[in-house]
Amino acid sequence: MKGIVFTEFLEMVQAKFGFEMVDYIIESSDLKSKGAYTSIGTYDFGEMLQLISHLSQKTTIPKETLIFEYGLYFFNYLEKAYPYIFEQYQDPFSFLKSVENHIHVQVRKIYPDAELPTFDVKEINSNQLEMIYYSKRALYKFAEALIQKTFEHYHKNCTVTLQMLKKDGTEVKFEIDHD
Ligand code: HEM
Repeated sequence: MKGIVFTEFLEMVQAKFGFEMVDYIIESSDLKSKGAYTSIGTYDFGEMLQLISHLSQKTTIPKETLIFEYGLYFFNYLEKAYPYIFEQYQDPFSFLKSVENHIHVQVRKIYPDAELPTFDVKEINSNQLEMIYYSKRALYKFAEALIQKTFEHYHKNCTVTLQMLKKDGTEVKFEIDHD
């Protein structure tokens, strides 16, 4: 997992829960990196799982909620870091439809070791898009948050319905209704 995902995560933890919480979750985890992340480095995804688990235990907020919150936060970084990508699309459906075949393809060119999900995207009609998420990291709540924020970015409303195709969250279907 790319360092930027760790540095932004710890920044969010600091903003929402304070610096002591950042210290606590790093100290309670067994991290090869010792918690010293750089945005351009690459680290073991297991470290992120440990950090989220400890944050969840300490705050008693479910992991799914924290991952969703983190997706909302990470989107703000994407908007700031990649404004030219957003400018290439005029509406949320065309943006979402290109994540798999264009956006993440570009990301992989910049970071060949990026660990990205796979999406199967089907436009049912002009008001409904179906996205099936596949990833062994099971960060479907992160994906759901990015989908919601994409609509906010384009000042549009949507309803996202989630259906677990596999219990462990490695395959999840999103039905996205544009209203
Ligand atoms: C400007 C647009 C976007 C950029 C530049 C971008 C870039 C990235 C980057 C750098 C990562 C981290 C890879 C790693 O840690 O190795 C990532 C992960 C991820 N991205 Fe995107 N992304 C964008 C939009 C989206 C959107 C709209 C979605 C959802 C529909 C999405 C879904 C995900 C998910 C779920 C992950 C976590 C990894 C996983 O689930 O396996 N991304 N993306």
